[in-house]
Amino acid sequence: MKDIRLALAGCGLFAESHLQALRAVPGARAVAVYDIDRGRAEYLARVFDVPTVCDSIAELCGHPEADAVDVVTPEHLHTEAVLLACEAGKHVFVEKPLALDVAEGDRMIDAFEKTDLVLMPGHILRFETKYASLREEVASSRLGRVVSMQARRNRPRALLGRYSRVHPAHVNCIHDIDLMLWYAGQPVRRVRGYERNIHGGSKPDVFWGVIEFEGGAVGVVEAAWLLEEQGGVVLDDAFHLMGATGAAHLSAFPPPLSYWTSDGFAVPDVSYNPLIRGAAFGALRDELSYFCDCVRLRRKPEVIRPVEARNAVRVALALTESAAAGRDVEIQDWR
Ligand SMILES: NC(=O)c1ccc[n+]([C@@H]2O[C@H](COP(=O)([O-])OP(=O)(O)OC[C@H]3O[C@@H](n4cnc5c(N)ncnc54)[C@H](O)[C@@H]3O)[C@@H](O)[C@H]2O)c1
Repeated sequence: MKDIRLALAGCGLFAESHLQALRAVPGARAVAVYDIDRGRAEYLARVFDVPTVCDSIAELCGHPEADAVDVVTPEHLHTEAVLLACEAGKHVFVEKPLALDVAEGDRMIDAFEKTDLVLMPGHILRFETKYASLREEVASSRLGRVVSMQARRNRPRALLGRYSRVHPAHVNCIHDIDLMLWYAGQPVRRVRGYERNIHGGSKPDVFWGVIEFEGGAVGVVEAAWLLEEQGGVVLDDAFHLMGATGAAHLSAFPPPLSYWTSDGFAVPDVSYNPLIRGAAFGALRDELSYFCDCVRLRRKPEVIRPVEARNAVRVALALTESAAAGRDVEIQDWR
């Protein structure tokens, strides 16, 4: 089996999770890292035995030993790295959101469509057991045609410091928007967004989006950054789906595992990137493993296609436009 060698652009918190998960992907290894904060890049290189710390994004994307570039930079910086990597003939995994602009997403898609290189957007929930199981159930037709969906993604206020650099529609709701597109399998016709700023930050801390699909389905996404920290990150995430002949409910709360110790109440991750016997397992490992398989086989990803991530960005942008204008926004340019 051919080793897939990855170069990581960005060395923040989630890049660290990527490096941990990659250690558990057979035949995958990180060969280079780059971060604008060189100290942080050197730290991760040391901890994860990555041989090269690059001096620029261009050097990283053109690294001669890398087969693929893993883009884990802040949301507004994805496009530059993705296009540089494509020009250098590298496959690309890019974290969600694909971009913050539809035209940028289209540029990435068009650039890769001219090649046999793999471009895979990171929509991790398509690899998470509960959400992926629900998709199997929807695809089996046992629930009937999807007619109504409600999703909630509520987070502790303390996390907003890092993620208020982007609107919650792009950082948080984008997960549920993508799931709704995946489950409903219908283009979006019209949206209406609502936002509130309760604590006076630079971005809204409460967001609601109503999504009307071409086939008649309706979805509601809610994101709020208002939970009080209780020790450990307690997620109040849920997804409720009604089909014409059945319904499904998925919830992260109450958590499947929790601890009460002298340090207080804590909820460990048992789903996304937990460590068991020193090795990562879970959705992130499975997602990166799938990407490496696609690269190895030169196969365009089917679990998540770039155009689907682009359409999720389109819906998120329409929702923020609607919330700012206080009116419905129609979606015309579905691809
Ligand atoms: N799929 C998920 O569940 C999930 C979870 C967390 C984050 N993410 C996504 O991953 C990406 C990274 O998020 P994060 O949480 O690691 O953010 P972060 O703020 O922890 O890390 C970003 C890193 O990028 C570096 N950086 C900033 N400007 C740069 C530049 N010009 N060139 C290179 N590096 C630069 C920063 O120094 C920092 O180390 C984002 O797109 C985010 O939305 C996805």
